[in-house]
Amino acid sequence: MTVSERDDGTPWRNFYGRRHGKTLRKGQKELLTTRLAELAPKGVGWEENPDRNPIDLKALFPGAREIWLEIGFGGGEHMLAMAAAHPGIGIIGCEVYINGVAMLLSGIERAGVHNLMIHPGDARELMDVMSGESVTQVFLLYPDPWPKKRHHKRRFVNPENLDQLVRIMAPGAALRIATDIGDYARHVIEALSRDRRFVWLADRPADWRAPWEGWPGTRYEAKAVREGRKGHYLSFRRV
Ligand SMILES: C[S@@+](CC[C@H](N)C(=O)[O-])C[C@H]1O[C@@H](n2cnc3c(N)ncnc32)[C@H](O)[C@@H]1O
Repeated sequence: MTVSERDDGTPWRNFYGRRHGKTLRKGQKELLTTRLAELAPKGVGWEENPDRNPIDLKALFPGAREIWLEIGFGGGEHMLAMAAAHPGIGIIGCEVYINGVAMLLSGIERAGVHNLMIHPGDARELMDVMSGESVTQVFLLYPDPWPKKRHHKRRFVNPENLDQLVRIMAPGAALRIATDIGDYARHVIEALSRDRRFVWLADRPADWRAPWEGWPGTRYEAKAVREGRKGHYLSFRRV
């Protein structure tokens, strides 16, 4: 895993996206201190788990049939809709953008769902400490596109993250990736088609041009559509 060290020896990973946006409202700040403490799994950060021991995800969702993971949930609209539609599933989501985390926390209060957990940070940190074969579905929806060629290595779909996904996904688990950027869709299809650990579940163009059944959409997708771009909906299965 590509982890560097700071001068004081603490581990550090490059992250290029935004962590903060507009000033948070008082109510959002409160949720980030009170409610987030209840919903964030312990033992993910390096300080509290320097040996990177696996955390017990099942214990976080007592009674859940399965556990799903959403990477980069943005404002959390998709996670909330999935949690409401599938109350028997535990869903854990990661997001580094703290304003997005605050938005999801407000949504959870309004919707009254009880099957969500949030890692307010880098998905790579969470994947490090997830046990093998622990999730049956992973969502990566509109990942940051990094369109410039010299930035392609920043894309979430890269060999290191694919290895981690393969490790944490149970055999037969589903991986859903949506993107509005044709070049990112090609990047994903190329990377996963050469990887024998995944199968692309598309027989004809309609399979990736149409959203998944019951698809609630996402905030980023709505913006892309307003700007005239279309989604590509790519479904893979972990062999
Ligand atoms: C283009 S936005 C899409 C957000 C949301 N999925 C949607 O469709 O509205 C990509 C999101 O991924 C988050 N992100 C990027 N890399 C991440 C990482 N390594 N771990 C967690 N979140 C990440 C970004 O902060 C950003 O909010």
